[in-house]
Amino acid sequence: MSLPAERVTITVRKNGSLLVTGDVTILDHTGNVIPRINDKPNVALCRCGQSQRKPYCDGAHKTSGFVDPVDPPEAPPVP
Ligand code: FES
Repeated sequence: MSLPAERVTITVRKNGSLLVTGDVTILDHTGNVIPRINDKPNVALCRCGQSQRKPYCDGAHKTSGFVDPVDPPEAPPVP
């Protein structure tokens, strides 16, 4: 019996990165592994476009003024 694969979770951080939690490998467009920039078990991916270490977040969102758009209203319940 095989163990179930670890579930990966992606959390959109308010005014920040995408936090990827779980056993993931980040590949470039040719399929090569992009080495991580630290030994943390989670991976933070840049979504502000200002990181000097893309695709990883280097904290530049904090000084670049990156802010999320206003949160959308909650979707109505499905009938
Ligand atoms: S989200 Fe952190 S540097 Fe872009």
